[in-house]
Amino acid sequence: MEWKTAVTDILGCRYPILQGAMERLADWRLAAAVANAGAHGIITGSISRTPEKLREDILTCKEATAGAPGTFGVNLSIGLCPDIEKMLEVCIDEKVPVETSVYKPDALAPMIKQGGIPWIHKAARVKDAVHAQELGPDAIILVGVEGAGIKNPDQLPTMTTIIWGRKQLTVPIIAAGGIGSARGFLAALGMGADGIMMGSAFMATRECRIADSMKEAITRLNPEDPDLRRRVLTPGPPRRPADPSAAETAPRETDWSQAVSLAAGVIDHVPTVKEFIDGIISEANEIINGWAFLKTR
Ligand SMILES: Cc1cc2nc3c(=O)[nH]c(=O)nc-3n(C[C@H](O)[C@H](O)[C@H](O)COP(=O)(O)O)c2cc1C
Repeated sequence: MEWKTAVTDILGCRYPILQGAMERLADWRLAAAVANAGAHGIITGSISRTPEKLREDILTCKEATAGAPGTFGVNLSIGLCPDIEKMLEVCIDEKVPVETSVYKPDALAPMIKQGGIPWIHKAARVKDAVHAQELGPDAIILVGVEGAGIKNPDQLPTMTTIIWGRKQLTVPIIAAGGIGSARGFLAALGMGADGIMMGSAFMATRECRIADSMKEAITRLNPEDPDLRRRVLTPGPPRRPADPSAAETAPRETDWSQAVSLAAGVIDHVPTVKEFIDGIISEANEIINGWAFLKTR
């Protein structure tokens, strides 16, 4: 079946699946692997650090994804990405979609709109999404409390957030938070989303730049483990492994399992990015075909 939605129309990718930005991890290599597998990869702007390096990374990624069934864009995390306006200028110049995230995008919005590139904004609360929608993004990512990264004390579970968001937003929604399998993908579409974003699940793919031992450790995590639950569900700054200075220079030696979300419950092997995305799509097709009640009307 064709997985064409408002999100694939906006981003030009084959599947309505996005890879989330990941500070220190999701560089152009991961974004390229995702685009080559038919989804939408994201280069984390804070990894490129300078506008010059970001342009270089975008050009390398374009070369690595020429003719790909998927696409890629750049994440500009407000408050985290250095020199953000200059970074945005590069994205506009190179005509790549941007994803803004973490804080209010009000200051960047006029420049993005004038630049004419596709724009998606990531919010943790429906109320912030409603505010952002007024600024004219093409789509909004809503992240539930089960997700990694952004944490707001008022954040709701993914299911509640997406369904409630669907009632209040007119722009397409991308669901994130705790998703890592075909069932989560289909559930998100059922809740009214037009696509999904996953971060943690991509940490356990072969192309992610963390150590293999760490990926194996992620597959053994249990979302009912009290420490994991507490780490993910307690409001506060994004959960990052201890010793960030070491992580900066040696991401492979850092305990990245500390940053994984409740998606841990469905991460049970370490596939390539292509195996992972193909697996979600083929399992989603199988599940839909198995839902006999859908065919009785
Ligand atoms: C290690 C890690 C680092 C992340 N860094 C960022 C970031 O810099 N900016 C951002 O907007 N989101 C960041 N995120 C959040 C992801 O882009 C995505 O929204 C989130 O992982 C979705 O939830 P999931 O992990 O349950 O799939 C990060 C996630 C992880 C796991």
